[in-house]
Amino acid sequence: MAEALRVGIAGLGTVGASVARVLRDKTAELTRQCGRDIVVTAISARDPKRDRGIDLSAAKWFDDPVKLAEKADIDVFVELIGGDEGPARLSVKAALEAGRHVVTANKALLAKHGVALAEIAEKKGVLLNYEAAVAGGIPVIKTMREAMAGNAVTRVFGILNGTCNYILTRMEAEGISFDACLKDAQRLGYAEADPTFDIEGHDTAHKLSILTSLAFGTRIAANDIYMEGISNITQADIRAAGDLGYRIKLLGVAQRTESGIEQRVHPTMVPTASVIAQVHGVINAVAIETDILGELLLSGPGAGGNATASAVIGDIADIAKSRPGFQHAPVFGWPAKELKPYKKAQMRSHAGGYFIRLTVHDRTGVFAAIAKRMADNDISLESIVQQAAGAETQAQKTVILVTHETTEAAVRRAVEGITKDGHLTDKPQVIRIERAE
Ligand SMILES: NC(=O)c1ccc[n+]([C@@H]2O[C@H](COP(=O)([O-])OP(=O)(O)OC[C@H]3O[C@@H](n4cnc5c(N)ncnc54)[C@H](OP(=O)(O)O)[C@@H]3O)[C@@H](O)[C@H]2O)c1
Repeated sequence: MAEALRVGIAGLGTVGASVARVLRDKTAELTRQCGRDIVVTAISARDPKRDRGIDLSAAKWFDDPVKLAEKADIDVFVELIGGDEGPARLSVKAALEAGRHVVTANKALLAKHGVALAEIAEKKGVLLNYEAAVAGGIPVIKTMREAMAGNAVTRVFGILNGTCNYILTRMEAEGISFDACLKDAQRLGYAEADPTFDIEGHDTAHKLSILTSLAFGTRIAANDIYMEGISNITQADIRAAGDLGYRIKLLGVAQRTESGIEQRVHPTMVPTASVIAQVHGVINAVAIETDILGELLLSGPGAGGNATASAVIGDIADIAKSRPGFQHAPVFGWPAKELKPYKKAQMRSHAGGYFIRLTVHDRTGVFAAIAKRMADNDISLESIVQQAAGAETQAQKTVILVTHETTEAAVRRAVEGITKDGHLTDKPQVIRIERAE
């Protein structure tokens, strides 16, 4: 049997401790599958005294993860610390430069430094595996990197943040407000004490930026993503979406267009009958649309210790099975040096259907004025419906418009015009509609 694969784990929190536990519990299966043992020989975390719920006394402790990466007797460095700078970045860089394979679950690090790190990995002829960084346990990286040769991706989109999907699912199922759902999600541990990173779309954007690079062979551009979160989604939007045959999801979408690549994260209406609309709660999903395959949808657990550990261990096992001298697949599907600069499509040129909800004064001429602003901007309407805005607001009406395909620029102009006309009593709500099978 080949020599054991020696693994160093830096970070023994939710994911790191699960990885160590599963490696211990599945020793026999992994040895049989990989043809060699996988042994944790070195570990690092902040607090050496903390009980991790697993006996790691056989592994050498390092206070400094960078030292572990550089000096420990390991073949693979597993980074499960988190953060886009500091010890995570320094230790991954040090491990790659020392010619060690790296496995990480760190989307923030890859979104910011992924291409630079891939260049080092490819120069050194080692693997940089990161399956757990996007959609947790769902094997989307491998699918895109290895199973789709010859396919030209036209669009990749997904539910990439379990916290947001959990909140939107409960808002719809129970008719409760965003704030009440968020509080409950925090109580149950599905949302952080500071939830901004999740609910305003940053986490989805990090993951999307990695998928964009894999889909289109471009350099990662995480700072160039159009982003809107879910905090202004109301029960009125959810109910109106349902009446119209849609469900609201926070999607990350990357799409090739004539003017470049669109990368956008925003609340989106998807047809209730589509497969992605059936993805509920903390579950994640990624849809990949290609010229040959059509639309493929992968769905499953996007976070949590065990689900994330499953992806990390899959990455470690791939390294255990790889043979010295064998050419590895490039980190982002294309050699890092050949990744093209990202050509951004302006959001104003985004084409699609739109849902617009307006709360207006209940007086004559308003409906006609709205219809005129739409016509002036060449926006053709699929439907326009006027409803009472609620018993407590008899002087107001709600107008709900659904457009045929138009552009973001036209919708923004029309809504600005309607706002200037002075008919609105509340901020207008605009939600993009996404085509989905
Ligand atoms: N949690 C998930 O469901 C999930 C899903 C997908 C991806 N990820 C990614 O996985 C990574 C780890 O997440 P997590 O949830 O496991 O985080 P976590 O529970 O906060 O664990 C972080 C670990 O890093 C250690 N650490 C922090 N600073 C350190 C330093 N300077 N030197 C050495 N160790 C240090 C901590 O040590 P102490 O324990 O001693 O404090 C802790 O063990 C992140 O990149 C995250 O984005 C997480």
